[in-house]
Amino acid sequence: MTETLSTEAPEKKLLMQALKGKFTSQVPFWLMRQAGRYLPEYRELRRKAGSFLDLCFDPDMAAEITLQPINRFDMDAAILFSDILVVPYALGQNLDFVEGEGPRLGAFQTIQSFGEIDFDVFNKKLQPVYETINLVKKNLAPEKTFIGFAGGPWTVACYMVQGRGDEEFINTKKFAFSHPEEFDHLIETLVMATSNYLLEQIKIGVDAVQIFDSWAGLLPELYFDRWVIKPTKKIVNNIHKIYPGFPIIGFPRRAGFLYSQYAERSGVRCVGLDQYLSLGQAIRTFGSKVTLQGNLDPVLLLAGGKALEIETRRILETAGAANFIFNLGHGIIKETPPEHVFQLANILKEYQR
Ligand code: CP3
Repeated sequence: MTETLSTEAPEKKLLMQALKGKFTSQVPFWLMRQAGRYLPEYRELRRKAGSFLDLCFDPDMAAEITLQPINRFDMDAAILFSDILVVPYALGQNLDFVEGEGPRLGAFQTIQSFGEIDFDVFNKKLQPVYETINLVKKNLAPEKTFIGFAGGPWTVACYMVQGRGDEEFINTKKFAFSHPEEFDHLIETLVMATSNYLLEQIKIGVDAVQIFDSWAGLLPELYFDRWVIKPTKKIVNNIHKIYPGFPIIGFPRRAGFLYSQYAERSGVRCVGLDQYLSLGQAIRTFGSKVTLQGNLDPVLLLAGGKALEIETRRILETAGAANFIFNLGHGIIKETPPEHVFQLANILKEYQR
């Protein structure tokens, strides 16, 4: 293994260098939800496709959407265009995206019904996503990083149990706290499904993967360990058994003080920070163990102008020489003017540390 490493060609992808813990004089960047509704070229394809799910499962259109933001703003990474909810869909739960309202999932029957995963059926349903990865690979410039992704088991379970989006997921939490063993079983099913799904993405050729645990911050410490850190660690181990050292980014949004435990124990190589965390404090407490990513409030990108410039420069100055990837603290807001993304990209490209 050490031999293969020593004969490896020097890393040409800027963002991969940061993921491998190397210092980069330019700070690499990409933006969560960089492909999506704020782009007129996305909205046009979306109209043609009909439903959002049809778009996710059309490899030609999904590949084109993956590349749209790179063609416009030249980010250092492309993120696969898909959704975290294709996993429950492939496990057999009905899924619909209602115009203007968000996802609706079919009745959450019994968790036991998800107990045995038929991986042939699962991967057949996800075949269009794998085809999208193939197409993007062929068309992405070699200096760009290609990021695959999945939702964290806890966050995906939130939608599976609640049946729709929410801010608090009280029904899910009540169910989980009242039936912890049954809930463990669901989380375990999602660990296996997610590991398999990410391993397929890696096999086809993504350079890194991100685990989106957007609702991690809803859990108290004890359960955060049980349903966020431990399941993430299992996924990381399953991936590293087959691809040792493969770069994995974890995003336990709104985890506050629990972020440092996640950084220390989940096994991820890079941690995505939301905008509610102090970047300086994050660097001091766990910035030497992992690469850090994120932190810009998406509303500042929506606002643009002086406020965006001041905060972007503050983040860059605070990051200093730390291992850092610039990103938002959460996804781009759909009303964001594309010119503000240009403004941000220009600041980042001109900045040398
Ligand atoms: O980042 C990217 O550009 C890649 C594509 C991507 C999407 N969703 C496309 C999408 C990624 C990485 C996601 C992740 C995702 N999906 C998360 C985790 C990140 C986060 O935002 O917290 C979650 C929780 C979901 C589930 C989801 N998908 C919801 C709740 C919704 C509805 C709310 C909304 O923003 O519309 C979606 C729909 C969705 N996923 C859209 C896009 C572009 C909008 C669909 C449309 O065109 O109408």
